[in-house]
Amino acid sequence: MKEKIEELKKLTEVEIANCKSLTDLESFRIKYLARKGSIAELFDTLKNVSPEERPVVGKALNELRSNTQRLFDERKVLLEMSVNVETKIVDLTLPGRRRWIGSLHPITQTLNEIKNIFFRMGFDVVFGPEIEDDYHNFEALNFPPDHPARDMQDTFFISENVLLRTHTSPVQIRVMETQKPPVRVIVPGRVYRNEAISARSYCLFHQVEGLYIDEGVTFSELKGTLVAFAKQFYSSSIKFRFRPSFFPFTEPSAEMDITCFLCSGKGCRVCKQSGWLEILGCGMVDPNVYKFVGYDSEKLSGYAFGMGIERITMLRYGIDDIRILFDNDVRFLKQF
Ligand code: DAH
Repeated sequence: MKEKIEELKKLTEVEIANCKSLTDLESFRIKYLARKGSIAELFDTLKNVSPEERPVVGKALNELRSNTQRLFDERKVLLEMSVNVETKIVDLTLPGRRRWIGSLHPITQTLNEIKNIFFRMGFDVVFGPEIEDDYHNFEALNFPPDHPARDMQDTFFISENVLLRTHTSPVQIRVMETQKPPVRVIVPGRVYRNEAISARSYCLFHQVEGLYIDEGVTFSELKGTLVAFAKQFYSSSIKFRFRPSFFPFTEPSAEMDITCFLCSGKGCRVCKQSGWLEILGCGMVDPNVYKFVGYDSEKLSGYAFGMGIERITMLRYGIDDIRILFDNDVRFLKQF
């Protein structure tokens, strides 16, 4: 019995070295370690050994079994490693690991498109401060101190005269204060309003303002420019309309609507069954505004317009909650 154990020990040591693949190794396992393998067979014959010898032989058998198991385990680790190394080197068809490179925020994408269209029409892009004073945000835009239109724009005040701008229109004043006419600018930027936060409104959003002042600028030029913009930005086949409106700094004032591109004008939930979507406010600059900046209102005329960016972006991409635009959740952003 002892010789047999010794013989098996040598055999397993030789054979394990000959195992060149996982299949070889499996045959080895079946031959020696399985329930009907050579080692189990020897255990079965233990009952024939004399009681005096049994503890010694039993111990030797146990050692043989654990030794063989260790040989098997070590060989398995080695073979698995080399299998992996081989496939990694050889399998050139595996797709490479992609690095995610990030993308522009959907609001930035919309802003860029709008800027590009107006830039090609000859507008300069300018910026203004987000922390404004009452004078530029309201007074010089012809909002009298107790004018109800001030209530339309729930304002975050920092002090009595300092506030977070509620629209990009104050930059009109800043441009005219520092530049001689003609001026032709667009102003993208953030604006702030102290509103109840919901799926439709947020305390912060973006606008693009436009201003064109020169001699002899007419309302039909305003219409022509905005229609050219809308056809490029939305689609050349959209229909549009201008409705009379009111803003303190323009006279006359209007709002521009385009056919709802979600229902093609048939009427849906988004356009509130009207078939139209309001896209911007505009008008001819009120002569009162020229007085504040020292422009000659007898010689000059011009137009202004302003549009919100969030709503346009939400409509384009089918986003139904404005707050998600400000969460900075990568799972949302990486779709754009
Ligand atoms: N500032 C206006 C607002 O926030 C939008 C606006 C309307 C801007 C008419 C203009 C304009 O320049 O002419 O509601």
